[in-house]
Amino acid sequence: MRKKIVAGNWKMNNDLNESISLINEIKEILVDRDDVKVIVAPPFTSLDSVSQLLRGTEIGLSAQNMCYEDSGAFTGAVSAKMLKSVGCEYVILGHSERRTLFGETNGDVNKKIKKAISESLIPIFCVGETLEEREAGKMKKVIKKQIKKGLKGISEEDFSGAIVAYEPVWAIGTGKTATPEQAQEVHAFIRNLLKELYSETLAENTTIQYGGSVKPENASELIGQKDIDGALVGGACLKADSFANIVKNA
Ligand code: PGA
Repeated sequence: MRKKIVAGNWKMNNDLNESISLINEIKEILVDRDDVKVIVAPPFTSLDSVSQLLRGTEIGLSAQNMCYEDSGAFTGAVSAKMLKSVGCEYVILGHSERRTLFGETNGDVNKKIKKAISESLIPIFCVGETLEEREAGKMKKVIKKQIKKGLKGISEEDFSGAIVAYEPVWAIGTGKTATPEQAQEVHAFIRNLLKELYSETLAENTTIQYGGSVKPENASELIGQKDIDGALVGGACLKADSFANIVKNA
């Protein structure tokens, strides 16, 4: 049985003090559940402090991005080893904001996934189509390309245990959510791609999260779909009670 995972992507929100307050509140009100893994992804500057506050809890720590190089003259970049050194176990890679605002290509995402795996970080590999692509009937083609190029040269053994997040770009931060049926259709498509690329076992065991305007009110219906194994939450994870309610409703 694959595990449900709810992850909160704080994006570029919360300075150090705000991060400490938020994680303390989350710890206070979140009810531990055996069947749902909870992950938080604060900004780089808060990772170390949040990591210390998460000791002794079941909440996992993720970064929102990383560089595929190990070290050197890459101003502004952060390596996988640096993330490990502050207690990260996960890293979000290929988020649509990285792709569209910062020009990350499928090739970059591929190199990052490889590096994360080689440093024993679990990638949360994001894919998703824009509204334009969906309306032009190119949704499946785009997602297939993102998956195939993103996972190029990565073995089944290496990819097992990784997380995939389907995030339709048109649903991110817009308040528009994919209907449970729309999301389920793409999740099943992605699972089938994983089966084609790897195996039935890997496909069945891979957690595929949905992301895009997930809120406490729509979480249970979305996550109740057969192939939707949790959520990657942006806006609604910035308040402890709404994040905790999404976990509760998962
Ligand atoms: P949103 O963001 O929940 O604010 O739509 C989701 C995401 O980008 O991961």
